[in-house]
Amino acid sequence: MAPQLLWIGLGNMGKGMVKNLVEKGNLDKPLILYNRTRKRSEELAAKLPEGKTEIVDSLEEGIKKADIIFTIVSNDAAVQSVFEDLLKGDVAGKLFVDCSTIHPDTTDQVAKSVTDKGAQFVASPVFGAPPAAEAGQLVFVPAGPKSSIERLRPFMKGVMGRAEIPFEDKPYSHSSKLKLVGNSFILNTVTILGEGFTVAEKTGIGADALQQFVDTLFGGIYSIYADRMVKGTYWKMEEPLFSANNARKDAGHAMNMAKGVGVDLKTVAVADEYLKSVAEYAGGDKGDVAGIYGSARKNAGLKYENDA
Ligand SMILES: NC(=O)c1ccc[n+]([C@@H]2O[C@H](COP(=O)([O-])OP(=O)(O)OC[C@H]3O[C@@H](n4cnc5c(N)ncnc54)[C@H](OP(=O)(O)O)[C@@H]3O)[C@@H](O)[C@H]2O)c1
Repeated sequence: MAPQLLWIGLGNMGKGMVKNLVEKGNLDKPLILYNRTRKRSEELAAKLPEGKTEIVDSLEEGIKKADIIFTIVSNDAAVQSVFEDLLKGDVAGKLFVDCSTIHPDTTDQVAKSVTDKGAQFVASPVFGAPPAAEAGQLVFVPAGPKSSIERLRPFMKGVMGRAEIPFEDKPYSHSSKLKLVGNSFILNTVTILGEGFTVAEKTGIGADALQQFVDTLFGGIYSIYADRMVKGTYWKMEEPLFSANNARKDAGHAMNMAKGVGVDLKTVAVADEYLKSVAEYAGGDKGDVAGIYGSARKNAGLKYENDA
């Protein structure tokens, strides 16, 4: 019999992950959905085949029935608050999998609170933007006891993800540490693209030529973010794909973690400065990380919005 799953957090990432679990997770009972704002659960359930999901109105109601509990919520405070509620009752034997991007210290605190109650924990942040979540192409970074990761394995590669970088029997926080270093690469990529496309416009070589260069020499994530800039998606989107606030949270955690081991992440500080201006102009929860391009444009005397 397949385990009963409970999913908590149906933001940009969670909704795509749930879609793939429902479609490919070999579940034999409805996947239980909980989101702080119920409307998001209803909207997602309406898009998925009937009978494949069940909405609960409280964490208390969901946790009672669940064997494996997934969480992916905004930030450390949200994770802490959700776990405080989840761990109120008897949770012995259950497996908790947190996919949120949080500080390594928070990961260890949450892991301890779970294992102190006789339950299992896997910290598994994910790499990949919301379109990758929707396509089941995320890269999972699970850390924790090998036996707990084995329990999670049927739902990662081939279901919600395309690969995993596991830390089996390693500290839980290793996964958060890799996630933060990894996201510093992404923030730097977005920053170099934002500045590059601004220079391309100001020098008159134009965005098209630079985009061809990016696609031909780099591809991958470079091309994805270049497209989001050139097409003006960064300012046209109703909802951000990766909010300025969440990106600033990652930048802050990455700098704090690195500082703790004597490393100064200078380039991340630059990205964070741009993101601060994105948040001021477009809103912390509304502005997208690719709005770094808009900030670089403004610094150069252009409009935040390009002419796409
Ligand atoms: N977007 C990306 O590109 C990306 C990629 C990889 C990892 N991540 C990480 O994945 C996590 C989620 O990101 P996202 O883009 O899906 O964020 P999002 O679209 O902003 O969604 C945030 C989710 O967290 C919930 N939430 C926030 N505060 C809460 C609280 N105090 N209690 C309960 N639920 C709360 C929200 O519920 P409501 O609907 O009620 O607001 C929503 O379901 C973050 O840690 C992020 O850093 C994001």
